[in-house]
Amino acid sequence: MTAQIIDGNALAKRVRAEVAGRTEALKARGIQPQLAIVLVGEDPASQVYVKHKVADSEQTGLKATLERYPADMSEADLLARIHALNDDASVHGILVQLPLPRHMDSARVIETIAPAKDVDGFHVASAGALMVGQPGFWPCTPYGCLKMIDSIGLDLRGKHAVVIGRSNIVGKPMAMMLLGRDATVTICHSRTADLKAMTLQADVVVAAVGKRNVLTKDMVKPGAVVIDVGMNRNDEGKLCGDVDFAGVSEVAGWITPVPGGVGPMTRAMLLVNTIEAAERTAG
Ligand code: GUN
Repeated sequence: MTAQIIDGNALAKRVRAEVAGRTEALKARGIQPQLAIVLVGEDPASQVYVKHKVADSEQTGLKATLERYPADMSEADLLARIHALNDDASVHGILVQLPLPRHMDSARVIETIAPAKDVDGFHVASAGALMVGQPGFWPCTPYGCLKMIDSIGLDLRGKHAVVIGRSNIVGKPMAMMLLGRDATVTICHSRTADLKAMTLQADVVVAAVGKRNVLTKDMVKPGAVVIDVGMNRNDEGKLCGDVDFAGVSEVAGWITPVPGGVGPMTRAMLLVNTIEAAERTAG
């Protein structure tokens, strides 16, 4: 079997077009959806990420404001700035780019964002809402993965989904989303005794570890759907995921590529959360 590709770029384009339509509708009501992005320090990767977030927003008609602060900004000043953004009715979404400088407590910073504006979905209130099935904001990466699974028309009910990785921003929320769709979910991690025994049973595998070749051909059930969240470099310096793409493609039914898979969908889902935040405020 040769797996079919789930094209993240193509799907993200459709999602952005949908967001652009919803943005137009709000603008027609006199509301300009706005995302405030806060960047503290000079982390090179973060600078690239926020540039993309601003460009994506503007492309879909959302207003994005980027606030940049020096790495030696005090945490108190950052918290004060977040409180001001919470109180600013023209701002619908707030994103504080991570990682923050080491002298800051990231959890305290994130918990300061008003849950109604937490478009990253990192606040404990957002995590709790996802867990109990209440409305909230879902973290963009697992939300994008779910959209990719939906895009192939797979009914997750009763399927066995194996999530590899237990991070707060991907693995755990991914498991909750799959559970919310009535999948039988197994969460695997670095201490899992026999990963292959688990993945061989999986109808869906989401690999979110951050390590090359975590999932190889011999570990995949024929026809399975494989979602690769990884972003790594191979020995030649080329971008690659957690999945051995060439090998697993011979066995899986569907697979997401890296690059061009989950990455563009993560970016697109931030726009979805932002327009959603603006719509909820508008009523
Ligand atoms: N740093 C790397 N990815 C992300 C993200 O999705 N959101 C935020 N806030 N920071 C990040």
